[in-house]
Amino acid sequence: MHARILTLLIAGMVTGISPLYAADTDQMSVTAPATAQVCAGCHGPRGQGGGIYPRIAGQPAGYLMQQLQLMRSGARINIFMQPVVRRLSDKDIGELADYFSGIQAPFEPSTRPISVVALARGRELVTVGDWREGAPACLRCHGPELAGVTPGIPALAGQSSEYMLTRLQAYKNTEDGSLPVVIMRDASKGLSDGDLQAVAGYIAHMKPGERLQMLRPPRDPSYEFIPQFPDNFKPPPESAIPAGPYGDMIWYGLQIFENTRDAAGPYVGDSLDCSSCHMDHGRRPYSAPMWAAYVLYPQYREKNKKINSLEDRIQDCFRYSMNGAPPAADSPEMQALVTYFHWLAIGLPVGIKPKGAGYLKLPPPAHPADIQRGAAVFAANCVLCHGEDGQGRESHGEQAFPPLWGAKSFNWGAGMERISTAAGFIKANMPYAAGGTLSDLDAWDVAAFVVSHARPQDPRFTGSVEETRKKYHAHDSYYGRVIDGRLLGAPAKPHG
Ligand code: HEC
Ligand code: HEC
Ligand code: HEC
Ligand code: HEC
Repeated sequence: MHARILTLLIAGMVTGISPLYAADTDQMSVTAPATAQVCAGCHGPRGQGGGIYPRIAGQPAGYLMQQLQLMRSGARINIFMQPVVRRLSDKDIGELADYFSGIQAPFEPSTRPISVVALARGRELVTVGDWREGAPACLRCHGPELAGVTPGIPALAGQSSEYMLTRLQAYKNTEDGSLPVVIMRDASKGLSDGDLQAVAGYIAHMKPGERLQMLRPPRDPSYEFIPQFPDNFKPPPESAIPAGPYGDMIWYGLQIFENTRDAAGPYVGDSLDCSSCHMDHGRRPYSAPMWAAYVLYPQYREKNKKINSLEDRIQDCFRYSMNGAPPAADSPEMQALVTYFHWLAIGLPVGIKPKGAGYLKLPPPAHPADIQRGAAVFAANCVLCHGEDGQGRESHGEQAFPPLWGAKSFNWGAGMERISTAAGFIKANMPYAAGGTLSDLDAWDVAAFVVSHARPQDPRFTGSVEETRKKYHAHDSYYGRVIDGRLLGAPAKPHG
């Protein structure tokens, strides 16, 4: 062990005083527990970290507590931390977590040189992701400013690139099967060492409070649009978006799809975006990708018993999945969406159902889906991001994970309220970044649990739940059924 650290450790533990910490006590907002003195020697006087020592200031308390417990039990091994945590009681750990979580320590962006190429790739991974490698955008989980999501997802902003790289490498090789670790492992396992360096370097260069968003990538003129087979279609990369008004419209459509509430707010009545259910910006196979939709419309639909244009179909997702009032077929928003989908589908034959269209269809379950069992699957696999109450989670006042039921989620007219549709979606895509890991049975049961909760009324409500059920919910739906003594779909009682 490093001699200086050993000295600090001993100084901290034996005398209970750390020189670094003592110098800076006036900065502390909450009274420091005595056990915090030793931490300063390595994590800095305010837990701000640096180099191989992680920043622990401002991290979610739940995350800090869990890491300290894991290090104490030996599940997470680190030679520096082992002797420190061994002595901590549960109460100490709770106090330390609360204390460091409450510290707001400013940070400076790294000044270390980084290449333009690495910065651009890092930025792409953080804001867009690379689903070919199974990697969603880092900000989808770590929050729009990478400030973390309470209680389980750590902040990355302010962390050094050395530390992040160590951790990213550790996730690649871990045998820890706990949910957060599996999710982070799966989110990064497809990335090369160069990618990991680029992303860690980019994050270390972020400014405090910087709000990240997708930027239009520089145009790569070398991409060639060629005819492709419908059983193995690959939509073009964003760097192939052309210059000029046509490209601007494609980009606008993509913005609406990704950030629907920001870019098309007046048409949205819930806390979802199109991308909440159509992953990877509408590209991902078996997540009802938009390139497949483009070549399948106009199409006859049982839902309204007529030929539907693509605009009609998009309006349906606004009306039901977004619980809103759809934009008109000739509105700029609708035109932009259709232009984006058309561009995604260039080279794909029209009228033939391509492989990957729609959502995954699971074979029927051996037993009727079990809501009680689904509740347990939910508690184990979904609460980290969607919360105990299914309402999603916020990061600094912004919705970071979407609500699954209740007033801010999709309404009873949406396709996702079918148990079978939700089961297929969940099996393929959830837990986020670790899709495919639930058993079929778990996917069916957790889907039943999710769609057996109250949500906004079906806009086609006739005035009678019974009649609406017969007319529009004669499929695998809980609409109009009594669950836990409550009639689902019953109009909300007027107040007073
Ligand atoms: C001797 C140096 C040293 C001391 C003293 C020390 N730490 Fe650490 N700590 C480290 C190092 C190094 C790591 C990074 C471990 C790794 O790379 O996995 C770490 C990791 C952590 C983590 C995990 C952070 C994360 O983002 O996952 C927490 C939490 C933590 N320390 C809290 C504390 C607390 C609280 C104290 C005081 C009771 C303390 N440490 C004292 C060196 C130290
Ligand atoms: C699907 C959600 C998800 C995505 C996407 C994601 N992460 Fe994570 N990340 C997590 C979770 C959950 C944890 C906590 C894991 C644990 O408890 O060990 C985590 C932890 C980390 C840590 C450890 C931080 C610490 O303080 O020790 C780093 C570093 C990290 N992520 C970097 C990234 C980067 C870089 C990306 C983008 C390439 C990314 N993550 C994308 C969910 C995600
Ligand atoms: C709550 C989840 C959810 C949200 C949010 C959502 N959709 Fe959908 N979308 C679905 C489901 C479910 C289907 C039906 C897929 C099927 O039938 O296999 C669908 C189908 C579609 C289709 C037809 C796909 C096909 O292959 O026939 C289009 C086009 C579409 N959505 C566009 C959108 C747009 C644009 C938005 C945002 C305004 C949006 N969706 C928001 C769940 C959602
Ligand atoms: C690591 C975080 C994470 C975990 C764990 C997770 N989800 Fe999600 N979930 C997301 C994100 C993020 C989205 C939106 C996707 C996007 O914006 O790209 C989402 C979207 C959804 C949606 C569609 C949108 C909505 O609000 O209805 C459903 C349904 C869903 N998740 C169900 C589940 C279920 C069931 C589980 C547990 C089996 C689960 N999720 C676990 C992060 C997570």
